[in-house]
Amino acid sequence: MLQDLLMITHTEEQITARVRELAAEINRDYEGKNPLFIGVLKGAYIFMAELCKNVTIPCEMAFISASSYKGTQTTGTVSANTDKLPDLTGRHVVLVEDILDTGLTLSHICKVLSSCGTASLEICSLMDKPSRRKTELTGKYVGFEIPDAFIVGYGLDYNEKYRNLPCVGILKPEIYEK
Ligand code: IMP
Repeated sequence: MLQDLLMITHTEEQITARVRELAAEINRDYEGKNPLFIGVLKGAYIFMAELCKNVTIPCEMAFISASSYKGTQTTGTVSANTDKLPDLTGRHVVLVEDILDTGLTLSHICKVLSSCGTASLEICSLMDKPSRRKTELTGKYVGFEIPDAFIVGYGLDYNEKYRNLPCVGILKPEIYEK
């Protein structure tokens, strides 16, 4: 799988060190607030696990599924499955995402969640491609800002593959141009 990468952009060590820093910020900001982390499936599952392992305050976890991508392109239509979420009334929610790209997926999810009476709602994203944004959305906790390139690994996929890579890297264009 590594041979399908043009280059590794973030090693496992760099990612885990940064995730620890994000968790430390969250520990400070959410002390006494019993935050609810909502991971966006499937991309955020590894990030969510690593983040929550380093959160030392009482907290709860849930997952939501959303999809807008097919291959390397967003379809523009977002669907989010909120059925399995707990009652969000008065909860301090941290939405955990793999990557903020156009922002369309998260802005849809944020609208749905804030209509459920959350006390606060913030975004924690491992990766951020600000140059691609089509909404006003910003992440409060961002692991790494990256330029516009299609990356895989550490939960991020291309057609469901490469999620299990422990590092993150740029996929060779010939893989998706085939
Ligand atoms: P957005 O709605 O355009 O912000 O897209 C967010 C979703 O698109 C992410 O949760 C990813 O699943 C997917 N995505 C965006 N950029 C990439 C990428 O570079 N690699 C893999 N998936 C990506």
